[in-house]
Amino acid sequence: MILVTGGAGFIGANFVLDWLALHDEPVVNLDALTYAGNLENLNSIWSDPRHVFVKGSIADYDLVDALLRSHQPRAILNFAAESHVDRSIHGPEEFIQTNIVGTFRLLEAIRGFLASQNEDFRESFRFLHVSTDEVYGSLAPDEAAFSEHRKYEPNSPYSASKAASDHLVRAYHHTYGLPVLTTNCSNNYGPYHFPEKLIPLVIHNALSGKQIPIYGDGMQVRDWLFVKDHCSAIRRVLERGKVGETYNVGGRNELTNLSVVNTLCEILDELRPLPNGASYKAQISFVRDRPGHDRRYAIDAAKIERELDWRPSETFETGIRKTVEWYLANDAWVENVTSGSYRQWINRQYQ
Ligand code: NAD
Ligand code: TYD
Repeated sequence: MILVTGGAGFIGANFVLDWLALHDEPVVNLDALTYAGNLENLNSIWSDPRHVFVKGSIADYDLVDALLRSHQPRAILNFAAESHVDRSIHGPEEFIQTNIVGTFRLLEAIRGFLASQNEDFRESFRFLHVSTDEVYGSLAPDEAAFSEHRKYEPNSPYSASKAASDHLVRAYHHTYGLPVLTTNCSNNYGPYHFPEKLIPLVIHNALSGKQIPIYGDGMQVRDWLFVKDHCSAIRRVLERGKVGETYNVGGRNELTNLSVVNTLCEILDELRPLPNGASYKAQISFVRDRPGHDRRYAIDAAKIERELDWRPSETFETGIRKTVEWYLANDAWVENVTSGSYRQWINRQYQ
């Protein structure tokens, strides 16, 4: 079986759902259920015997150690993190605790576990660390996209904490021989995306008649990838990636925030027209910029394309339409997240 951490969050939940749709191999899903962890994401597999959910933290050495020894996973995929840049600006502490200390404890538990295994097990074991393109910092408009050789220049507490975790993963490979793989992916979007992030926030605010906030001039560039394509890249790296290597993952979809927001408004105008015939674009409002806002991210995905023969299956046009359709069809999920009622269920379940 495999162990997934952070599998109740946006990307982790998509990964677990896709994994069980494609494989019979069971998944142990370790998630601390922070505000970003939502068990409703896992409703469809809640009673599936191949899915074992454990509420707990990657920073809990004893818990992770016990899980590893009882389940003996052949691989661990580490999605667990604090992931929102704006939250890291308001309160960096949790980012240090989870992304740095948590990853460190997880690595320590794996190191102890592998030391007690035979060579065959150690040879085939993999630790895949899910990271971000934000560790590379900000690109000038005419600079080449980030390759795996790009220098780390993180600019936010979030990206600095992810960079630190990447360095720890690398060091555990070089020092202790841990069989690690690291992926650095660009901005994801798709189903189960928490509506504090740009794309789901815009859809939610538009439909609720609220202001659609664009930071600064809206000309910041992000490289968008449909979440299921990120999950397929992770599966490919797990299956074929070379131990100790890092792989950049991206969709070659560089877009300004303003054009993403305009596209979302246009799709909503078509699929859920306002009764008065106005466009959702009228709700757009330019607000104060994020401090230290990175201007441009872009991923050069040549290595994973060339060495592992991976390609995304969605273009931005197809992926974003599917995403809007998912949010329109799942208004109860959005309502439970935005009203906070998904927490009540978690509290009842885990009181
Ligand atoms: P998310 O915030 O939606 O989910 C994070 C999950 O981790 C939640 O379920 C949360 O409960 C859990 N978690 C938090 N602290 C934990 C702890 N100490 N122990 C166990 N579980 C804990 O994040 P996401 O967008 O799904 O991102 C997943 C990973 O992918 C992160 O490592 C992030 O850095 C990386 N990433 C995200 C993006 C993106 O666009 N969202 C892009 C590239 C990489
Ligand atoms: P976000 O979804 O928070 O992802 P990240 O900061 O990890 O790239 O933001 C994506 C971009 O959208 C980023 O440039 C900040 C911008 N943004 C807005 O303009 N308005 C918003 O309300 C939010 C949440 C983000």
